[in-house]
Amino acid sequence: MGQKNKEGVMLRVGLLGAGRIGKVHAKAIAGDPDSQLVAISDALPENAEQLAAECGIEARSSQAILEDASVDAVLIATSTNTHCDLIEAACAAGKAVLCEKPVDLDLARARICLERVTKTGQPVMIGFNRRFDANFQALKKALEAGDIGKAEMLSVTSFDPAPPPISYIKVSGGIFRDMMIHDFDMAHFIMGDLPVQVIAAGSSLVDPQIGEAGDLDTAIVTLIYADGRLAVIRNSRRAAYGYDQRLELLGSDGLLQAENILENSLVTATRAGVVSAKPTWFFLERYMAAYQTEWAAFVAALKSGAPMPVTLADGVAALTLAEAAARSVASGQPVSLIEI
Ligand SMILES: NC(=O)c1ccc[n+]([C@@H]2O[C@H](COP(=O)([O-])OP(=O)(O)OC[C@H]3O[C@@H](n4cnc5c(N)ncnc54)[C@H](O)[C@@H]3O)[C@@H](O)[C@H]2O)c1
Repeated sequence: MGQKNKEGVMLRVGLLGAGRIGKVHAKAIAGDPDSQLVAISDALPENAEQLAAECGIEARSSQAILEDASVDAVLIATSTNTHCDLIEAACAAGKAVLCEKPVDLDLARARICLERVTKTGQPVMIGFNRRFDANFQALKKALEAGDIGKAEMLSVTSFDPAPPPISYIKVSGGIFRDMMIHDFDMAHFIMGDLPVQVIAAGSSLVDPQIGEAGDLDTAIVTLIYADGRLAVIRNSRRAAYGYDQRLELLGSDGLLQAENILENSLVTATRAGVVSAKPTWFFLERYMAAYQTEWAAFVAALKSGAPMPVTLADGVAALTLAEAAARSVASGQPVSLIEI
């Protein structure tokens, strides 16, 4: 670990991947008092150089970062198809890792990664940032405090404001592995375990090009738990009013609801009706605080030696549910998790 801050020792961090989400993480690390970003790499050197210059640090190759004994941890924010190789290389180099979701698009590869990494004993966290959203954390805390008794039925609403470019859709791995993966993890986080059965249905209603590319843009998945609890996840690649991210949990003694964050809190009531602002536009606006809390939780776990708050096994679990949902849509049948 590097130079001392007020309370102890600074975590020295390398960022691999200087794209869209890499920039968000660079900002989160810059705001953290217990860690220091020391180098950035990217397969496109100009990406790394630009972000490194903005951060006032060095651009280096990923290999140079991994070989640097003074680097304690790496944040992997590269394209999905590089995650498993980089997680394994970082663990072999003795680094702690926070890697973006999903672990991989291929479940078998992700399982091999989990097996290899477990042998190294290195701490690895997967970036399911929504677990660190203050609203969702409050819901989880209220459930654990017994405020609504026993959880019975969870609804996860997760609509993007608009679809990504078709070029992205073609390499995304499909709606379940790319988008709903967050919601599978959210259901796991709230319900505390995995379902035994998955039933999925999906369509392409938003953009015919998404359907032509073999993907879905509108999907509903039902999760059935061993004790009869149910969860339903609804995804759409389009919501005309903005990023719609809500949870509703019915329990034996009541209901918990985590609502959207709005652009502002103004409510205008007139004879025509009552109008409030739209939800914030997309994930950067909605979840910036969650990315910061996520990073702080990673650093805190490393400092205290506590288990990672979201493990590589959690990442593989979410991918298992995505695989089950894809198979259910393809077959038109419920899929038991035991088959996956
Ligand atoms: N948690 C979230 O909310 C969230 C949001 C967006 C993206 N993501 C995930 O983050 C990852 C990156 O997504 P993005 O939107 O930032 O993509 P992006 O294409 O904007 O950035 C990826 C960057 O990684 C670089 N790169 C690719 N291979 C590399 C390698 N081997 N070594 C070093 N750099 C490499 C690319 O050149 C690019 O600059 C994806 O896995 C995505 O699923 C997560």
